[in-house]
Amino acid sequence: MAKNERKAFGLRILNNGHKDIKRIRTAAGVPNIHGNKFWKSSLLLMDYLSVYPPELLPSHKGKGKKKKARSVRVLEIGCGWGLAGIYCAKTFGAEVTGLDADDTVFPYMEHHAEINGVEVETWQCRYEKVRKQDLAQFDIVVAADICFWDQMVDPLYKLVRRAKQAGGVRVVITDPGRPTFTTMAERCVDKLGAFYEAWSTPHPHNASGFVLDLDTHYDGD
Ligand SMILES: C[S@@+](CC[C@H](N)C(=O)[O-])C[C@H]1O[C@@H](n2cnc3c(N)ncnc32)[C@H](O)[C@@H]1O
Repeated sequence: MAKNERKAFGLRILNNGHKDIKRIRTAAGVPNIHGNKFWKSSLLLMDYLSVYPPELLPSHKGKGKKKKARSVRVLEIGCGWGLAGIYCAKTFGAEVTGLDADDTVFPYMEHHAEINGVEVETWQCRYEKVRKQDLAQFDIVVAADICFWDQMVDPLYKLVRRAKQAGGVRVVITDPGRPTFTTMAERCVDKLGAFYEAWSTPHPHNASGFVLDLDTHYDGD
């Protein structure tokens, strides 16, 4: 294993001590809303998606024996270095957009996309500003560790609700178990019929926490 990097779920993931990351930090600066490193909840998300992968809804797959017409479209919100989205691009051939409020994170995401042999789009935006018609352009919204302040609970719940209203948009969010996330997730269970469960990915990843899955295939609508 090369110095200052790890391999997980088929991806190369660089540490802050890696020379490429140091170079990006000098050129682009340090992300300032905690997007300054790769967070372990992304490993939980990769593990969960390896078991429950992103899929096109039957209505999007084309009729009969026809091959499906397009790739799954993934929006990673609060992407930071964007490894969960990059995992979807590499593993599922997904078209991936990384959204973050802080555009300083994008050179870190783009570099990880490059060293992992995939392409991604980026979108600077706060997740509270993402509209229903924006969400309707995607099949699945994924996120890891993006509900860490009290003021994030309501906007994030409303985003999940907009995804449900958009129709056919799945949302999967992982978290280490912060009380703010639990509050938001329990509201999604009560009001939107989302699933919420403990999830862990053992050695060598050693990550544990929770996953919220608003799966439009199974919510009974
Ligand atoms: C703890 S980091 C997690 C980064 C990445 N998901 C991971 O697991 O490595 C939180 C990320 O959410 C972004 N963020 C915080 N508030 C946001 C908002 N309102 N809209 C969009 N992104 C936001 C931050 O800039 C940061 O990149």
